Amino acid sequence: MCGIVGYFGKRPAKDFLIEGLKRLEYRGYDSAGVAFLEKGAQRGSKASKRWKIKAIKALGKVAALQMKMEGVFVSGIGIAHTRWATHGKPSERNAHPHIDCKGLVAVVHNGIIENHRELKEVLEKRGHKFRSETDTEVIAHLLEEEMSPSGEKRKVGFEEAFVKTLKQLRGAYGIVAIATEDPEIMLAARFSSPLVLGIGSGEMFIASDVSALVGDVKRVVYLDDDEIAVIRRDGYVVKTLSSRKREKEELTLEWDKTVAEHSGYAHFMLKEIFDQPKSFADALRGRLILEEGMAQLGGLSAVEKRLRSINRIVIVSCGTSYHSGLVGEYMFEEYAGIPTEVEMASEFRYRKPLLDRKTAVIAISQSGETADTLAAIREAKEKGALVLGIVNVVGSTIARETDAGVYCHAGPEISVASTKAFTSQLAILSLLTLYLGRQRGLSLVMGKRIAKELEQIPKYMERVLAQAKDIKKLAKKYAKQAHYLYLGRKYNFPNALEGALKIKEIAYAPAQGYPTGEMKHGPIALIDSSVVTVMIMPKDSVYEKNVSGMEEILARGGKILAIATEGDTALAKKATDVIFIPKTLEMLSPLLAVIPLQLFAYYVAVERGYDIDKPRNLAKSVTVE
Ligand code: AGP
Ligand code: GLU
Repeated sequence: MCGIVGYFGKRPAKDFLIEGLKRLEYRGYDSAGVAFLEKGAQRGSKASKRWKIKAIKALGKVAALQMKMEGVFVSGIGIAHTRWATHGKPSERNAHPHIDCKGLVAVVHNGIIENHRELKEVLEKRGHKFRSETDTEVIAHLLEEEMSPSGEKRKVGFEEAFVKTLKQLRGAYGIVAIATEDPEIMLAARFSSPLVLGIGSGEMFIASDVSALVGDVKRVVYLDDDEIAVIRRDGYVVKTLSSRKREKEELTLEWDKTVAEHSGYAHFMLKEIFDQPKSFADALRGRLILEEGMAQLGGLSAVEKRLRSINRIVIVSCGTSYHSGLVGEYMFEEYAGIPTEVEMASEFRYRKPLLDRKTAVIAISQSGETADTLAAIREAKEKGALVLGIVNVVGSTIARETDAGVYCHAGPEISVASTKAFTSQLAILSLLTLYLGRQRGLSLVMGKRIAKELEQIPKYMERVLAQAKDIKKLAKKYAKQAHYLYLGRKYNFPNALEGALKIKEIAYAPAQGYPTGEMKHGPIALIDSSVVTVMIMPKDSVYEKNVSGMEEILARGGKILAIATEGDTALAKKATDVIFIPKTLEMLSPLLAVIPLQLFAYYVAVERGYDIDKPRNLAKSVTVE
């Protein structure tokens, strides 16, 4: 999910590789590395004809890698990577590129190889020695196995070995590889993790994001899924996995560098909002067992038995992660039958919470470093509770201090305002609901229904995102409101809080989120023609109640911006404005209803001219109390 760059051409690759990694570093990462081919060392009178692979890696910033490369001559064929760990903690050993036992190939990879465990077992039985804990390293050993199999004579060329290797992989990948056996080509392959070729004269470039190419090339070619690129210093060929040549359209690159940093989006927040279909799919990848209506969560295998005896759940988190926890509360109670409460970690840590071994405390945190949440889990561990984490950053403190957990795989979230992390947290909470529910009697039929609907969510998200232009118009219309009210019930009450938080955070707009039913206990006094109320009212079990709430507001001259289910024309006639979302299961509707709220807040903030990605007074990770 992080950064790949490669260079093959007339210049030493070092400058482009380092500069390219630096262009990608805004995305956040934990380590970086470079590998390149170099001629074998001169021995006696004969220089070794063989090419060798040299790899240099560093934990932390690209600058650390650059320091290590001071004075290192890099040939004209090299690859580099900034890692966002998914399997194996951030470390120099786990940093890419990864190399096989014999030093034949070097590989960089973005994404997740779902079947890496099975592949690694087979390779280890054949004598392969693994140096890292990553899923990626299996690719290097598979290539070695195909090109120079242990104990057998059979030997195939680099390109054929590459295709054979790809056919054994399951999961998401953007891969670039180089090989000593065939120093005239660099190979790349894409399956659901982007790669783009840059076409120079007498030199070729490749990157996982076009921002790394801006300024170096004007013509680019985007790889599509199941395509490989055979790259030579003076050109390229794109093929399918069945080695059929594929003609590709060469696009002209118009961007300037700043826009390029967000891959064509004006801000990281907008990029991350639009990333959600992909990040949601990544959160589910390899974790749904459709036929059993089940979830397989490897990170919980060590506590699977203990989870069966849990009779209470306490969720502790802050901000947006607190809001996702509130959705989880409804899910766990309705479908897993477990009494659940959600606590703001900043309060929980000062209470004398009554916890015991049958309580599961679940910490939800994008950064995994939030001080209040960390303090809450330490308190919970003291009290003997089972402590789990739903975290995005691999190897973060909360991830390390919980007894077990599930990573969100949302990729780096750069914008201070959390968006894709929220929907990825809901993905994990949905999987956890299936996992716990099916342990406790959630029926196969219902489990399969939830699992199948989860698979549809990315597609539904695309349909909501396609309305961005209309939402932008509504944001313009309501950009100057003195006050915003957000209302929702049941599964969408947390979204009322989340929508209000978003517009507070980035548009500095006074806003309140309330349960719709709470209006008549005071807040309705706020209503007059100067207030716009954003009402989240999909066709669900509380729809009629929401309609009554809307009527009460309209009757007092208030304006209503309704988030409604596609086709609800009756509502559209009554509300002042409406944004439609696709019909889905009630428990999954927050995943779709939140997107208009994110976009509305974003466009209002743009109208107001504020710093979207770095709002005043805020930090991405609140590591202080
Ligand atoms: C959300 O937009 C805010 N950036 C903030 O509320 C955030 O959700 C909160 O600080 C918790 O952060 P965490 O998920 O990294 O623990
Ligand atoms: N899954 C690989 C790893 O954990 C690649 C992660 C990434 O996309 O940076 O090393």
